[in-house]
Formats: sequence, C-alpha cells, structure tokens
Amino acid sequence: MPNQNTVSGIHPENYRFLQQHVYRQAGIVVEHDKHYLFESRLGPIVRQLGLDSIDSLCALLRATQEPDIGRQVVEAMTTNETYFFRDPAQYDAIRRVLLPRLRRERRDTRKLRFWSAAASTGQEAYSLAMLLLEEGLADWNIQILGTDFSTQVLERARAGKYQQIEVNRGLPAALLVKHFRRVGVDWQLSDAVRRMVRFETIDLRDRMRALGPFDLVFCRNVLIYFDAETKKNILREIHGALFRGGWLLLGGAETAFGVEEWFQRQTVEGAIVYAAR
Ligand SMILES: C[S@@+](CC[C@H](N)C(=O)[O-])C[C@H]1O[C@@H](n2cnc3c(N)ncnc32)[C@H](O)[C@@H]1O
Repeated sequence: MPNQNTVSGIHPENYRFLQQHVYRQAGIVVEHDKHYLFESRLGPIVRQLGLDSIDSLCALLRATQEPDIGRQVVEAMTTNETYFFRDPAQYDAIRRVLLPRLRRERRDTRKLRFWSAAASTGQEAYSLAMLLLEEGLADWNIQILGTDFSTQVLERARAGKYQQIEVNRGLPAALLVKHFRRVGVDWQLSDAVRRMVRFETIDLRDRMRALGPFDLVFCRNVLIYFDAETKKNILREIHGALFRGGWLLLGGAETAFGVEEWFQRQTVEGAIVYAAR
C-alpha cells in the first residue's frame, strides 16, 4: 500500500535546487541520498497547496515571488526533535557545579543570563527555568532567551502547552505536578516558568554577539546540520556572546573541535562543557 505521507520522485535538478534552497536559507546541509527526507517533509506542503509532486513545488518555488512558501519549505526541513532535560548529565553538571559557581560569582548583582540557541519547542529553556526555581533562584533576576530559526516551533514554545507524550519524555513527575496544569488532553506550563523565558526568531548564522553577554549557552543538536565553516562561524559568535569563563553546552554528537582558541573543553560531573577563554 502506498504511504500516504510521502510524495515520491524528485528530478535530480530539483533535488539540487532544494538542497541549495535549504542551504541558502538556513545553512542546513542535506546530503545527496536523502530523498525520503524531502519526500516525507515536503509531502504535506505539496498536498496543502493542491500540487501533485515535489517537482511541481519546485516549479512554484522558482516562479513565485512569495517568500512564505520558500520559508515553509525550509521550516519543514528543520529537525525539531527535543525533550525535557535532554542529556541529564549536563543538567546535573549545571545543578552541582556550574550554578553554585555562578551564584558565588554573581552574588552582588544576583543576575544571570542564559541562552537556549536552537530552542525548538521550548523544552530546553523551560527545563533550565524549572531547574533554577528548584535550586532556589526564584528571587534572582533570571533571563533566559530561547531562539530558533523556525517561527512555527517558537509559537509552540511561547504557548508552553505540551501533549501527554511530550511531558512523558524526560520531565520528572514531581515537576509536572508542580509546574503544569491539565488543559483538556494537554498540559499547560505555569506563567511563573513561562515568564522566565523570552523567545525570539534568530538565524544562528547572523551576528549574535550583541545578544549577550550570557553566563551559559545551550547550542545543542543543531551544529550537526551545518558544514564546518558555518559551524566555526557560529561558535565564534557564541564565544563573543559569552562572558569570559561562561559555559557552552553542545549536543551529545557535537564537539567544538578546532576552536580551542575560544573554548576550553572540560569534563564536569561526567558532562562535557566548554568554558569561554
Ligand atoms: C534538533 S532541534 C534541537 C533542540 C534542542 N536544542 C535540543 O537539543 O533538544 C534543532 C533546532 O535547530 C533549529 N535550526 C536549524 N537551523 C537553524 C539556524 N540556521 N538558525 C537557528 N536555528 C536553526 C531548528 O529549527 C530546530 O528547532
């Protein structure tokens, strides 16, 4: 039986056109053998526009002056997978070592600034916010910025409303009970936690140092989609947006290899963290 979610067949010229489009718009590299990825992600757009194939979508993209369709295509190609307290060792490192140090260093101003770059639907930024509340920082001046390329995921992040399957992933039951209330079949995050985070649409390839200075930056599970040059530029900008001695946390499959001039790699409580030089 044909899969209802895929639209098969992409002319090689259109495949290259789509690769270039996604690279130009978001810096994301789609390899040569990822037909299924285009087919499954762009199928819904093809159907929504009443088209019959991805080739027709490419023809429309080439002809149209309408930026919305181009944007929709790129957003569909971003991978937004995320969940609460992803990579728990990093949150343990924050709780046990990084935060106690920051509390000492900032005890005069009682102000801390964090950035969840590539925030997706918000679980990363909100996990941090809940952790900070649990650690007794409710009366500190805490600012958490969550940014992403995709406006669609940020809408969901701002709403702070999650499905059962999403709160089942990584969120301890005690925090669910404490910070969420049931709304129909979903879970609504409290205003107290939502107020700690501000979300903004930002392309990581833009100049970002003016967003800082931050005490800690999460840039997790996004660098894997970029080429080496884009990745290096992003790490340079993040370094510029961090306080000296501030921390960068990357995803499990990512390294800040080749940027030793900006970051010093450290193992803290079993987690890899990068301290800005
Ligand atoms: C896999 S999610 C990672 C979410 C979260 N950081 C985590 O680790 O759970 C990757 C996110 O990167 C975003 N992204 C992709 N390209 C981007 C770019 N050029 N600028 C900013 N965000 C981008 C995607 O929209 C997506 O939401």
